[in-house]
Amino acid sequence: MIARVCLLSFVSLIVLAAIDGQRRTRQINEDANRFCSWLKGNKLRNCLSHPLLGLSAREGVEEALKECRSHFTDRRWNCSGVTIADVFQNERMLKADNRESSYLQAVSSAGVAHQITRDCSKGTREECGCDNRPQGRGTAPGELSWEWGGCSDDFRYGIQFSKDFMDPSRSSEKSLSYYVRRHNNDAGRRVIISKMDKTCKCHGVSGSCTVKVCWRTMPKMKAIATELRRKYEHAIKVKLNRNKTKLTRLSRGRRGRKSNKRNSNRRPSSSSLVYAEDSPDFCKPDSRYGILGTHGRSCNKTSSGTAGCSQMCCGRGYNTVNRLDDVKCNCQFIWCCHVKCDWCKKEWVQHTCKGD
Ligand SMILES: *[C@@H]1O[C@H](CO)[C@@H](O)[C@H](O)[C@H]1NC(C)=O
Ligand SMILES: *[C@@H]1O[C@H](CO)[C@@H](O)[C@H](O)[C@H]1NC(C)=O
Ligand SMILES: *[C@@H]1O[C@H](CO)[C@@H](O)[C@H](O)[C@H]1NC(C)=O
Repeated sequence: MIARVCLLSFVSLIVLAAIDGQRRTRQINEDANRFCSWLKGNKLRNCLSHPLLGLSAREGVEEALKECRSHFTDRRWNCSGVTIADVFQNERMLKADNRESSYLQAVSSAGVAHQITRDCSKGTREECGCDNRPQGRGTAPGELSWEWGGCSDDFRYGIQFSKDFMDPSRSSEKSLSYYVRRHNNDAGRRVIISKMDKTCKCHGVSGSCTVKVCWRTMPKMKAIATELRRKYEHAIKVKLNRNKTKLTRLSRGRRGRKSNKRNSNRRPSSSSLVYAEDSPDFCKPDSRYGILGTHGRSCNKTSSGTAGCSQMCCGRGYNTVNRLDDVKCNCQFIWCCHVKCDWCKKEWVQHTCKGD
């Protein structure tokens, strides 16, 4: 009797799990289809034939935007007002060709390559897996010898997918925007390649390193976004050459001084970010580009930098509010092992930018 009940509940558990699995699969497919419906043309076809990779791409852009927000917190343009859909549809800031767009393009295409590669390594995508190319043994001077093993990140697959998915198709009109976008997307993905590293693990009895196994690993998304933030500061202004076949640096020679004709290598380096338009001042909202303006932004009264009230508020002035926060205080370490704190009131002054 008991055995029968056990068997019955066991069977029903399996049935329930199967139903649950089916529901989850259906939900993922619905989610993927909804995402694909944002897309057009090439992208749409690509997405429908690899719906799960489409979801990876979306996640990659989500991560990229999160990084963008954290790298621009103290700027007038703080990366909010850009949605994931904007990135895939080239809307709002993504339809401009200014310095901020160049960052967005690069960090998004890197984010897609990164997330695809990560999901491939995890083994959750049918189309791809680990990179089996690194093989054999390696030595570095002064290092124990080691051998390739484990799961190396297959960044080539992720990068190719990002190219197919994020770049404007070669059949589209070859405008200045087209070249700028392709250039920045590529520059973003190059950061991944330039920061590929290896991670190693020792195997052996009681911590000895008898066998050392290594695999190729990608940089973290944070490191990629930080590097691109640096490139953003040094972005290069470009225009189309006379034949409209490639980008050239906009000459910044002093007026009246002839540019050096022999210096024909005016191409921006492939690892630089490039832009074609000067940025707006980002002071006022502009819904065409999803710019929110700086009305209501917190600023630092004593700083003369970008987070300072004079720069942040564009000369409109700021409001001052006294704030009272609950903060942890008088924390004590209690043996063993936790920390006990009181709650205290902390007064501080908040400055926020005025509107017009
Ligand atoms: C422009 O194109 C023509 C022929 O298509 C070629 O002869 C010329 O060298 C090109 N000029 C530049 C600056 O690329
Ligand atoms: C970014 O700016 C917008 C308005 O311009 C503001 O609502 C938002 O809180 C800001 N985000 C951060 C993280 O400061
Ligand atoms: C405000 O700016 C000053 C000067 O740059 C700096 O010392 C201070 O830490 C800043 N305050 C905040 C809250 O960031």
